[in-house]
Amino acid sequence: MDIETYLKEKRELIDSFLKSYFTIPTEPTILHEAIKYSLFAGGKRIRPILALTSYEACGGEPKDILPHASALELIHTYSLIHDDLPSMDNDDLRRGKPTSHKIFGEAIAILAGDALLTEAFLMLSNMEVQSLKFKVQNEKFKMQKCENSFPYISHHVSRITYDTILRVIHEVALAAGVHGMVAGQAMDISSDNSKPDKDILNFIHLHKTAALITASVRMGGILSNIEEKKLKALTEYGKKIGLAFQIVDDILDIEGSAEVLGKKTGSDIKMNKMTYPALYGIEESRQEANDLISDAIDSLQIFYSDADYLRKIALYILKRRV
Ligand code: IPE
Ligand code: IPE
Ligand code: MG
Ligand code: MG
Ligand code: MG
Repeated sequence: MDIETYLKEKRELIDSFLKSYFTIPTEPTILHEAIKYSLFAGGKRIRPILALTSYEACGGEPKDILPHASALELIHTYSLIHDDLPSMDNDDLRRGKPTSHKIFGEAIAILAGDALLTEAFLMLSNMEVQSLKFKVQNEKFKMQKCENSFPYISHHVSRITYDTILRVIHEVALAAGVHGMVAGQAMDISSDNSKPDKDILNFIHLHKTAALITASVRMGGILSNIEEKKLKALTEYGKKIGLAFQIVDDILDIEGSAEVLGKKTGSDIKMNKMTYPALYGIEESRQEANDLISDAIDSLQIFYSDADYLRKIALYILKRRV
């Protein structure tokens, strides 16, 4: 299967799960609407896809971890809503639509972000899902009819235990908060209008973007209980593609098409952001992204052909226009 078709299939799987999860309206309606507005505005779903693909590379059935993978998209969407706020990047277009605060006002946009972040951990820790899996496991791997509210979870055997879930929650919290993405965003904002600096720039990119991407890749490995050597390989891959992902994002902000990207270009220069092109220029940034992607692919040797789609995703990240 070519990578475009593969990504589309996986994206549809995630979207169906998210749609079914958010069908029942919650009060107040405005909050529910704001959540759905940003979550279903489009988006590549690259973080949940990475979790599914990494799980698949470790021998698992992607459908079994849809709630866990989808939780990553909730965290990512919250980060975009907050990133676009007037007090942060002050952007008014996202995923081809006006940003959340433009439609719902700043207060509801902030709260929609808060709600998405919290809901992600509810999704990850949902006992109904976990206990179903636990029951299946304890009934000597008997197939069982899925009667919970998540119709997209496969009814197949799952090896996921409470301990593993706790480990995943810990990893995601580390990657998203003060030790990860939020720290990166804070450093990013604090560095506006400063002279570009190599170490600060690396801190920003590794934290604001690579941390959650690495956690997404590791999630697949952790949920499959793979050996430490393989998890280390996935971690290396995640860090490298995560860094490359943000370098490409910085390049697209200069060279990309707003129509294709669904967000305005030129924002980084306007805001005097510390980016890769600002420090190294476009050509050197492109070379760095290239090198990172080939290192990422090299780090997957231990998986042989099982990780072919992870390799293809790495190349897609380099070539993406959206
Ligand atoms: C944009 O992320 C923010 C960055 C971390 C660069 P994506 O490029 O994954 O955005 P969507 O989800 O596809 O809209
Ligand atoms: C944002 O980086 C990274 C996040 C954690 C949201 P950017 O500010 O460069 O992302 P875009 O370009 O607005 O999507
Ligand atoms: Mg930003
Ligand atoms: Mg931004
Ligand atoms: Mg950007």
